[in-house]
Amino acid sequence: MTEVLGKFITFEGGEGTGKSTQTALLAEYLSDLGHEVVLTREPGGSDGAELIRALLVSGDVERWNPITEVLLLYAARSEHWQKVIEPALVHGKWVICDRFADSTMAYQGYGHGVDRVFISKLYNSVIGSRQPDWTFIFDLDPKIGVERALKRHTSENRFESMNMDFHQRIREGYIKIANQNPHRCHVVDAGQSVYAIHKEIAQIIVGKDLPNK
Ligand code: TMP
Repeated sequence: MTEVLGKFITFEGGEGTGKSTQTALLAEYLSDLGHEVVLTREPGGSDGAELIRALLVSGDVERWNPITEVLLLYAARSEHWQKVIEPALVHGKWVICDRFADSTMAYQGYGHGVDRVFISKLYNSVIGSRQPDWTFIFDLDPKIGVERALKRHTSENRFESMNMDFHQRIREGYIKIANQNPHRCHVVDAGQSVYAIHKEIAQIIVGKDLPNK
């Protein structure tokens, strides 16, 4: 079996919760500590997976049925895992990923009602037994988050445009995922200041406090 030396950190949550800002801050912090860091995202993160991303995040809300969505997401994830994440971990790099498999469980499983056992089986077939070392779940009222996300006015708004009940189910789904995986999942109150959130996350990873600001 290949020895995996690097650490794998994933950021999760609903729309407009501030994850991306925090992935960049953590990447900088860990690089300053001397780690080799790969900052990546899903869907996407490799050439082929980015092509699949374009199919998923834009266009009509009804463009794909939920099972097709799961299969497209796992097609992208398979590429990303094999070409970017796994090789980086094997070389001792620390990988920070903005969304990963918990997004599929939350959005397509809890949000759209796709069979969660089917989604877990895909995980096992595509990724295997490796799980993230830490997963930070950004929790925020979706009314605030979705409004914030829609204000960005990008063409990547297919999921943001889905109804509020869908976004509520995603929020509740994430809390269930956190409760089922307490060893790796940390729920973060995304309503705090940018620095307070960064401090909380860094403290969990390196095990020591950052100064107050
Ligand atoms: P992003 O806005 O965080 O870049 O993510 C793109 C969208 O894709 C976001 O609305 C959530 C959605 N998504 C899923 O529905 N399932 C998944 O597995 C992933 C990774 C993302």
